[in-house]
Amino acid sequence: MILVLWTVVTAAFIGIAEGHRHHRRGGGATELEAFHYAAAGAGGNRAHVARLTDFGGVGDGVTSNTAAFAAAVANLSKVAYDGGAMLVVPAGRWLTGPFNLANHFTLFLDHDAVILATQDINKWSIIDPLPSYGRGRDAAGGRYSNLIMGYNLTDVVITGNNGTIDGQGETWWKMFRNKELNYTRGYLIELMYCKQVLISNITLVNSPSWNVHPVYSSQVIVSGITILAPVNSPNTDGINPDSSSNVRIEDCYIVSGDDCIAIKSGWDEYGIAFNMSSKHIVIRRLTCISPTSAVIALGSEMSGGIQDVRAEDITAINSESGVRIKTTIGRGAYVKDIFHPDDNFDPKAIPVVRNITYSDVVAENVTMAAKLEGIPGAPFTGICIYNVTAEVVKSKKPIWNCTDVEGVSSHVTPTPCAQIPEYPDRITHCPFPEDDLPVDCVGLEECSYWRTNP
Ligand SMILES: *[C@@H]1O[C@H](CO)[C@@H](O)[C@H](O)[C@H]1NC(C)=O
Ligand SMILES: *[C@@H]1O[C@H](CO)[C@@H](O)[C@H](O)[C@H]1NC(C)=O
Ligand SMILES: *[C@@H]1O[C@H](CO)[C@@H](O)[C@H](O)[C@H]1NC(C)=O
Ligand SMILES: *[C@@H]1O[C@H](CO)[C@@H](O)[C@H](O)[C@H]1NC(C)=O
Ligand SMILES: *[C@@H]1O[C@H](CO)[C@@H](O)[C@H](O)[C@H]1NC(C)=O
Ligand SMILES: *[C@@H]1O[C@H](CO)[C@@H](O)[C@H](O)[C@H]1NC(C)=O
Ligand SMILES: *[C@@H]1O[C@H](CO)[C@@H](O)[C@H](O)[C@H]1NC(C)=O
Ligand SMILES: *[C@@H]1O[C@H](CO)[C@@H](O)[C@H](O)[C@H]1NC(C)=O
Ligand SMILES: *[C@@H]1O[C@H](CO)[C@@H](O)[C@H](O)[C@H]1NC(C)=O
Ligand SMILES: *[C@@H]1O[C@H](CO)[C@@H](O)[C@H](O)[C@H]1NC(C)=O
Repeated sequence: MILVLWTVVTAAFIGIAEGHRHHRRGGGATELEAFHYAAAGAGGNRAHVARLTDFGGVGDGVTSNTAAFAAAVANLSKVAYDGGAMLVVPAGRWLTGPFNLANHFTLFLDHDAVILATQDINKWSIIDPLPSYGRGRDAAGGRYSNLIMGYNLTDVVITGNNGTIDGQGETWWKMFRNKELNYTRGYLIELMYCKQVLISNITLVNSPSWNVHPVYSSQVIVSGITILAPVNSPNTDGINPDSSSNVRIEDCYIVSGDDCIAIKSGWDEYGIAFNMSSKHIVIRRLTCISPTSAVIALGSEMSGGIQDVRAEDITAINSESGVRIKTTIGRGAYVKDIFHPDDNFDPKAIPVVRNITYSDVVAENVTMAAKLEGIPGAPFTGICIYNVTAEVVKSKKPIWNCTDVEGVSSHVTPTPCAQIPEYPDRITHCPFPEDDLPVDCVGLEECSYWRTNP
């Protein structure tokens, strides 16, 4: 089963800047810089290895390990430029509040290691809103810190022998539903202004909100992770690349209460001013169960633009829609879509959505084939759908819901909406880029590639 999606989406004020990029193996030229991922698996290639217990950690599920994590990271960050370090979290249940990561650092979770997020809300400090959003999602003002936070780091690995990070989100979901929260919920893992990130071989459960949030980051690989949350839990998106580039998501299994993958780039005038798009994103071999949301969503916050997203080998089970593209102008739509813009949004800031390709898709047990919602007066154009079969279950929703979109299709079942008419004889394929992305050239075992400087 293959889903191929190629999209170019940018805000009108930003223009279609097809990022010029090139890569090659070998390096050497001044604008190219080699980097190495720590090898996957125990030890990696870090020179220094320590265990959480070396810093007073107690894995009894009751004792707080916030200080132990902080001490470990402070200690190990000193050897960041002396071969880097790995912190091993052994089997056990390690209760903790939020903690930070370090440069050239690996957090390794043994099998049967569980990092348990504290449910004591006072242990989650308040941090600034993201500059490309200007406010929190749940409430105005700041936001709660994230459980595991990387800020302005290079070469960060979170991996393990399928150990678990448990957000214990039930208390947060309850407070969110009861409108008791004064700030936006934290994410399980946030990497902000980071590059060379690998998240692999771990299981994330019950995040208070989003699970993995790379923001203003690049060269991010998420490989072989499992994300589980109740399908009715609020905003438990799986992986949300946000104003990030060269992101590769592969071999992941996600069951969540919101989108499995949501690609974003900031909100309204803050996103436009911050002007950092999400681009060069590869998603492959993803299995997603998302009964109320999308397998892959673009937006709705996309003021910095989204371009060049490629998805292949996607399995969607019992999900609302395979792909949802949603963006908006003005206030009314934002209110409808959870966001509450302040008074400074620019009603003339109309995103441009173009050239979206879906081919070779098989979807089972979905409630809609596609929801393609363009903008009145600024339709999404250049949509091409080829060789797609969706087994749609009976629901109140329309099988295709197309508004303000234009395109062509062929060999599609069920018959697409009138806006994407079928030309079975004329359309024999849809365009798809044939070049590799730099992030495609990273071998997790090989551990190096060369990239263009940002
Ligand atoms: C956003 O950045 C692009 C280049 O990446 C530039 O062409 C464009 O003018 C910028 N837009 C704004 C609103 O600053
Ligand atoms: C994941 O774990 C498997 C087996 O435990 C190992 O072979 C593989 O290299 C790991 N992959 C990554 C990306 O960490
Ligand atoms: C912290 O690091 C120093 C050297 O960098 C080392 O000597 C010391 O043992 C470490 N502390 C712990 C608790 O491991
Ligand atoms: C990141 O760290 C470097 C120094 O290591 C500093 O110059 C830069 O301002 C920092 N960037 C941010 C966004 O904090
Ligand atoms: C990792 O653990 C999760 C949760 O127990 C499980 O569903 C998943 O299959 C495991 N993944 C691997 C590769 O063993
Ligand atoms: C939110 O603020 C109100 C008023 O200051 C306070 O009573 C309440 O405890 C706060 N809620 C949380 C979850 O901190
Ligand atoms: C969209 O596709 C058309 C036809 O394939 C091409 O001419 C155009 O350059 C594409 N636009 C963008 C923004 O990629
Ligand atoms: C249509 O897609 C299926 C996979 O979903 C693939 O096996 C098949 O080869 C495709 N057919 C054509 C004509 O491309
Ligand atoms: C389809 O989805 C429904 C609703 O979640 C579920 O009850 C049913 O078991 C699914 N059927 C199949 C064949 O997966
Ligand atoms: C189609 O989507 C639009 C926009 O979200 C919505 O207003 C409309 O009700 C939907 N149509 C149907 C028939 O559900």
